[in-house]
Amino acid sequence: MSGTDRGRERLIETYRKKAEHYDVVSRLYPVPGYPQRAQRSRAVKELGLRPGDRVVDIACGTGLNFPLIEEAIGPGGRIVGVDLTDAMLARAENRVTANGWSNVSLVQADAAGFVFPGTMDAILSTYALTQVPECGQVIAHGADALCAAGRWVVLDLKIPDSTPRWLSQLAIAAVRSSASLDEWIARRPWESIRAAMQESLADSSWTELCFGTAFLAAGSGRGNVTSQERSPDPDGQKESS
Ligand SMILES: C[S@@+](CC[C@H](N)C(=O)[O-])C[C@H]1O[C@@H](n2cnc3c(N)ncnc32)[C@H](O)[C@@H]1O
Repeated sequence: MSGTDRGRERLIETYRKKAEHYDVVSRLYPVPGYPQRAQRSRAVKELGLRPGDRVVDIACGTGLNFPLIEEAIGPGGRIVGVDLTDAMLARAENRVTANGWSNVSLVQADAAGFVFPGTMDAILSTYALTQVPECGQVIAHGADALCAAGRWVVLDLKIPDSTPRWLSQLAIAAVRSSASLDEWIARRPWESIRAAMQESLADSSWTELCFGTAFLAAGSGRGNVTSQERSPDPDGQKESS
């Protein structure tokens, strides 16, 4: 098994353990009092959603973004939620059933290998993409599937610039699994995300939030695909049970 595969296995095990209490614990994420809910709302607003839009939520977890997206797209829209961890998707499925949403598809897949369906109006990823080593590739694949002016928005944590290494380790240890912490800090994935957004999207923007501990990256599709090319099956991959 390669190092990347071992990393994926560890990550799945971590989120299997977290899944049951994720919704409650995430209210304190990454630390009590952190404006996570406000950041999440801001990220969804950046998508500029309209009724009927089709949205992919990459690494959707338990579907905490779904209510905000549903409110904007209505029953005529579509959500495709993608996640690697079965237990997180099972919680998302519960949320979908409890709300009676019939326009959500859940796909168990690695974001790195996910084939984006047809033409999408928007792609979102919150507090997750920096955990994917191939994050730049995910951005590029998503950009290719966006219709012109479709939006790609990433919200995630980062290390504030010029923070001493010992302090960042202490702070981030609270929120990321320690096994991958050194690798995450050394890799500085937010920089890869920023570069990939600039390269693959039009009008890319980068906003640091909460003293540089988080970022909101956004951009628009270059129109490689048109809305006429919309795939009839927006979720033509294996769905979770
Ligand atoms: C901190 S949770 C965030 C969940 C959700 N986006 C939210 O905002 O609450 C991180 C999620 O990323 C998922 N994840 C991590 N690496 C992934 C990958 N390579 N492909 C798909 N999902 C992944 C995990 O399974 C987990 O559900």
